[in-house]
Amino acid sequence: MSENPRKILVTSALPYANGPIHIGHLVEYIQTDIWVRYQKMRGEQCWYVCADDAHGTPIMLRARAEGITPEALIAKTSQEHQADFAGFTIDFDNYGSTHSEENRELANRIYLANKAAGHIHTRTIQRPYDPEEQMFLPDRFIKGECPRCGAPDQYGDNCEVCGASYDPSELKNPVSAISGATPVLRDTEQFFFDLGHFEKMLREWTSSGRLQPAIAAKLREWFDAGLKDWEISRDAPYFGFEIPGAPGKFFYVWMDAPIGYMASFKQLCEREGLDFDQWWKADSETELYHFIGKDIAYFHTLFWPAMLAGAGFRTPTKVFCHGFLTVDGQKMSKSRGTFIKARTYLDHLNPEALRYYFAAKLGDGIDDIDLNLEDFVQRVNSDLVGKVVNIASRCAGFIRKRFEGRLAGELAEPELFRTFVRAGDEIASLYEQRQFGHAVREIMALADLANQYIDEKEPWVVAKQNGRDAELQAICSMGIELYRVLIGYLRPVLPVIAEKSEQFLQIDSLDWAALAEPMGDHVIAKFKPLMTRIDDEQVQKMVDQSKEDLAAQPQAMPAKASVGDALVKDPIAGTIDYDSFAKVDLRVARIVSAEPVAGADKLLQLTLDLGGETRNVFAGIKSAYRPEDLEGRLTVMVANLAPRKMRFGVSEGMVLAAGPGGRELFILSPDSGAEPGMKVK
Ligand code: 2FM
Ligand code: ZN
Repeated sequence: MSENPRKILVTSALPYANGPIHIGHLVEYIQTDIWVRYQKMRGEQCWYVCADDAHGTPIMLRARAEGITPEALIAKTSQEHQADFAGFTIDFDNYGSTHSEENRELANRIYLANKAAGHIHTRTIQRPYDPEEQMFLPDRFIKGECPRCGAPDQYGDNCEVCGASYDPSELKNPVSAISGATPVLRDTEQFFFDLGHFEKMLREWTSSGRLQPAIAAKLREWFDAGLKDWEISRDAPYFGFEIPGAPGKFFYVWMDAPIGYMASFKQLCEREGLDFDQWWKADSETELYHFIGKDIAYFHTLFWPAMLAGAGFRTPTKVFCHGFLTVDGQKMSKSRGTFIKARTYLDHLNPEALRYYFAAKLGDGIDDIDLNLEDFVQRVNSDLVGKVVNIASRCAGFIRKRFEGRLAGELAEPELFRTFVRAGDEIASLYEQRQFGHAVREIMALADLANQYIDEKEPWVVAKQNGRDAELQAICSMGIELYRVLIGYLRPVLPVIAEKSEQFLQIDSLDWAALAEPMGDHVIAKFKPLMTRIDDEQVQKMVDQSKEDLAAQPQAMPAKASVGDALVKDPIAGTIDYDSFAKVDLRVARIVSAEPVAGADKLLQLTLDLGGETRNVFAGIKSAYRPEDLEGRLTVMVANLAPRKMRFGVSEGMVLAAGPGGRELFILSPDSGAEPGMKVK
């Protein structure tokens, strides 16, 4: 570490604990990891923490759908997330969970301090309530018809078919996505954080160079629109932390999520003997940076600094936003196979290739970045294999075979070496500014110079001529010295290739300061290939597997709102490919018995005969049918729907019915002659 190192704490946004890491997420983790690795190479004291974002209704419901506890779900997901991150060498110093004791304590502390300071009040509001599930419904769990174009099954506040935006309360014929019941409005008392109390502080904070210009401009719009109170509580049932002194009320997931940054760091402090308070006290001289997607700026640039300030903690030094990922110029799409999970990528391709490609595309702004799959293959091969690694492979063989691995000791072209070293300051400053694309271009320009040098000196010709050994050793040593500087500059982006290179060069792990000095009189090891070419076929297999992943995944719940939304939604809304359709096992079934369900006013419990096999299904058709009229009838059911645990029992499939609901619901029946168990094609 340098003599008087900066003290830097860095975070990436906490991924939700109910879904896999995908390449859209990876833009941020790779961006942050490069920046952190750069800081560490510079000798700064830099810590990188993250955690799973484990609370909230979607996680509670996902666990329920899988028939496991939320604790079991988040434990499983945490392991998967961490394995994926490790696969991409995202090197967190600590990876925690928002469902931790440290987080509970800190959330309580921040809440109680803000409350004591008069920044929190209660108010009774109306919220949609699912009478069957007996729970309040978040907007994204209500679906209905688009108020503009009438498209069915629209969630939240915008229509996937016509693109209209509206208030979720405007959806026509709304139903709960959980039970199918019609939501009713109910009074509920909730806690609110008075964001308006912080307007002066926030205006100063946001206009003091902490934000990118585009984000600062967005904030001015938000200020002009007026800062609204923020609802920080939710009613039971909820997976989260119960609010102290308020039984049955829980902190809203977004309230304790950013506190998860602190909680994860607290675990690190305990392990490393760091002084937590020194890093988080109001006048801390340490630096705190959050890397996030632009869609969650509101939480990080308004609520978060306000909550921290209200509780007497320091606020972030800077918040760095990035754009979304597109693939081949379009939003990631499940049906096109471009919604690629981190694990699927790792099954087919070298993670360093994606790290390099993202680095080459990243700047300090909030523009979206595009992964063009053809360009990806071409660029990784031509830059990394064709230019960088090639320098080492062209020179190392001669040094090893003809000089027992010994370098020449003196630089053949000291001026060329100095050119490489001089470029270091500019490259460093580009890394610091998160101008990774620019840094990569500078480094590749140096790689071109090194290759030009070797091309001109033609060591393969020199090697064949008697009496030119010293010259051969000098040329190849020069090439290896240049390679070492290059790989040092690329080390934040390519940690695995850098480490393999360090082994081959037999040197300590490179820090920035070491790059200015050549190795000189030094022995290197045998050269082993550092990276192989990637090809279109690997990419195609990855895309194909991503399409298969889609078919295998049960889609019980709407995709995640906010950050993921732009990444998740498919622009070809409303269409599925044939393979996806073919996965749905539709069967003719006979209704053997139908009975009302105690405590549920919309449900009938059906016993269905599938031609030998019997299924228990809860169907929301009570408003349209008397049970006795159904018995003996044939209908059509989805036979391979994952069993769903409901309050009244497990539902093992779904019968198909048409109509808007209420009394106008019509179950589908085959023509006479069909037999129970027949497949519907
Ligand atoms: O949008 C998301 O994916 C959130 N889970 C990010 C949380 S970041 C922080 F605030 F915890
Ligand atoms: Zn619409």
